[in-house]
Amino acid sequence: MKKHKIIYGNWKMNHGRKTAIDFFSNLPDLNEFSEVLKGICPQSALLSDPSLYELAQSKGVMLGAQNCSSEIEGALTGENSAALISELGARFVLLGHSERRQIFSEEDEVINQKIMTALSQNLQVVVCVGETLHQRNESMTLSVLDTQLETCLHGVENALEKYRGEMKLPLMIAYEPVWAIGTGEVASIEQIIDAHSHIKNKLGRLGLESRDIPILYGGSVKPSNAQEILKQKEVDGALVGGASLRPDQFTELCRTALG
Ligand code: PGA
Repeated sequence: MKKHKIIYGNWKMNHGRKTAIDFFSNLPDLNEFSEVLKGICPQSALLSDPSLYELAQSKGVMLGAQNCSSEIEGALTGENSAALISELGARFVLLGHSERRQIFSEEDEVINQKIMTALSQNLQVVVCVGETLHQRNESMTLSVLDTQLETCLHGVENALEKYRGEMKLPLMIAYEPVWAIGTGEVASIEQIIDAHSHIKNKLGRLGLESRDIPILYGGSVKPSNAQEILKQKEVDGALVGGASLRPDQFTELCRTALG
């Protein structure tokens, strides 16, 4: 069976309600691209808007969250619980994005707690990992990926046991070199293949070899470079920031993912 490719968009703190509705209204019906799994992560407040789900769903696109709390509930002003995100109808959540790591000081340990909490609430989790430019220049890329995966995925094997056969693809990894995010500088195909192969091997060493865990690439993916990246067998899809904000570019990326 042909494997699905994945195109997930991360809108970050862009698009308010009106422009989000405009985006989906102007998006062609992507249901025909049934071999591509399509998702968009808007700002969290928009996840409580039922009309947005309706519109997105009518175009074949799932909604996801950009983050969630590590706790189930409690006195945590400003946080969004995985339970509520799931209850509202979001299907997946990005965790450990480099902007969360760098600007909000999220460490691998807290990302691990978030992953466990999100999985317990039936949210598909996309775990973001990747090295900084300094780490790459110091030849630390692979060891950084190892550390991030070891800590972030601690205990996940058991959590996934519960989902065997229930949720399709409960876990994905997004390899996002920090220096390629929002910079226009995309990693080379060799760098991407290297990192993805390493991540796949590491997942095996973490006892997850029997799981279907797609590995996405993220970092300045756009229609002009997507084909070269997505055609690699090591690349299961893309996590896209800037280019996911425009309906024409998002559509083009989904078309490219069809191969
Ligand atoms: P970018 O962002 O595509 O704008 O580089 C990717 C991301 O932050 O996931």
